Amino acid sequence: MFDLQKFVKECQLALDDPKPAQRVEAIVKEAIADPEAVRDAFEKADNVERQGPITFAWRDASLSVADVTTPPGLKSPAHNHNMWAVIGVYEGQEHNKFFRYENDELQEKGERLLKEGDVAVLGPEAVHAIANPLPTVSGALHVYGGDLVEQPARSMWNPHTDEREDYDISRLITYVNEMSVTQ
Ligand SMILES: [Fe+2]
Repeated sequence: MFDLQKFVKECQLALDDPKPAQRVEAIVKEAIADPEAVRDAFEKADNVERQGPITFAWRDASLSVADVTTPPGLKSPAHNHNMWAVIGVYEGQEHNKFFRYENDELQEKGERLLKEGDVAVLGPEAVHAIANPLPTVSGALHVYGGDLVEQPARSMWNPHTDEREDYDISRLITYVNEMSVTQ
């Protein structure tokens, strides 16, 4: 049975591993094998920080552990995290587009559709944009090797001009609202 406190503890211990993201990948894979238990644990938890669609079970300078709920039709602009990230979808789907940013130019370099039970590991240099392609809500566990809210030197890309901008959560939400198919 999924235990949120135990899950956070295991992610914290993984930081001592020479390859923390790979260790966390295995922990997330195991957790999302029981989707109802994950959903239930976050819904019932009282010791969490809720920020819109993101529910943080843990957040400090070295680790963020969160549940992310994406409504139908949601689209995000391209952004980086500037730290490793592990995403495990336990409900619905998350479509990922990956980009390369070179010589002031944003170029698409691939895509991946994450379905229930799939886990993606993103390196610190990764640039991605996500979308929920389904008419239903999607849910995913997100673990980052740093503070998702405070991590310095992050970038996002203006979806109208493809120009790089310093990461700004309120402007990012404005872009999400402009890009998303349904509100
Ligand atoms: Fe992201």
